[in-house]
Amino acid sequence: MSDRFEKVYVHPSQFPDQVFHDYLTGFAAGKINHKFHYDSVKQSQKWLKIHETFSPARQDETCIDAYDKCFQKTAEIILNNDSLNLIGLGCGGGEKDKLLVSHLCNHQRTLSYYPVDVSLSLAIISAQKVKGAFPDLQVQPIVCDLLQSDDLISLIENKKRKSIITFFGMIPNFSPDEILPILNSFLAPGDLLLFSANLAPGNDYLTGIEKILPQYNNELTKEWLITILLDAGVERKDGSIKFTIEDDSQNGKLKRIAAYFELEKNVRLILEEEVIEWQKGEVVRLFFSYRYTTPMIQDLLHSYGIDIVAYTEGANQEEGVYLCQKL
Ligand SMILES: C[S@@+](CC[C@H](N)C(=O)[O-])C[C@H]1O[C@@H](n2cnc3c(N)ncnc32)[C@H](O)[C@@H]1O
Repeated sequence: MSDRFEKVYVHPSQFPDQVFHDYLTGFAAGKINHKFHYDSVKQSQKWLKIHETFSPARQDETCIDAYDKCFQKTAEIILNNDSLNLIGLGCGGGEKDKLLVSHLCNHQRTLSYYPVDVSLSLAIISAQKVKGAFPDLQVQPIVCDLLQSDDLISLIENKKRKSIITFFGMIPNFSPDEILPILNSFLAPGDLLLFSANLAPGNDYLTGIEKILPQYNNELTKEWLITILLDAGVERKDGSIKFTIEDDSQNGKLKRIAAYFELEKNVRLILEEEVIEWQKGEVVRLFFSYRYTTPMIQDLLHSYGIDIVAYTEGANQEEGVYLCQKL
């Protein structure tokens, strides 16, 4: 086969039947699964623009530096490992993984990079970005839904190698009780987990969340989040998107920013054979993003036997980068 083809592995969790089932389930429950905000090329491009505009990791030099320091430390720890798997879970546009590869790649080491994402578009963008910078690197993009792929690591070749797993900016968009057991099962003793979380800056948790709310409550983000509804046949005049700060139902201490589409009209959608009826006054959950503090992250990881070896954050305290290892 010509190397002009990009070979992408698709896990069964993203086979069409499963994806359509998840899509209908979300519409029927009035709770849209986050993965549907990154699905199409149009959505992934809108998200990349938001990320470029608001993410401290793109806009703030001290935050980029925090990642760089964490990656230097990682390179020191794996100095004597001559073969490694780098598995980028929810790789997005691949910028952070690319910076990490620049610290790991050398002529003595065999390194394979697996950009993993629910979005085909983002998995390919990451693969091509990293391959473009490091043409000799072995790169294999994978498409999967992490919430339904607990066998992912066992399906990857070279699983006897030590792995570095990245999980950057992912924890806010999942319920911790759902994703942590899966992430934990991916780690073998000795593997490294590089993890970053969006934090509530300052000393007061709620005030910190209120401070960063405008990074979500803005037109670019609303346009991104409404795309899935418009594509399904909802009209702009059917309602409007409102942001709120709410408590987590499982863990009262934890809060998240959530976006709801508040219906100002009755809506009837026909999605293949399924009829979805939403009434005026109801709300459809489009998105949430949990905000953490470093002690919260520490406790959470510790409860799964994952230890933070090193930690850095940007000057504005909006993003923490954690180098972790399974105890
Ligand atoms: C907030 S972005 C973070 C991207 C990147 N890691 C970064 O830090 O820039 C979330 C990423 O997770 C992916 N994603 C969302 N839900 C997912 C799921 N269920 N399984 C796998 N990837 C998912 C999205 O496509 C997106 O690339």
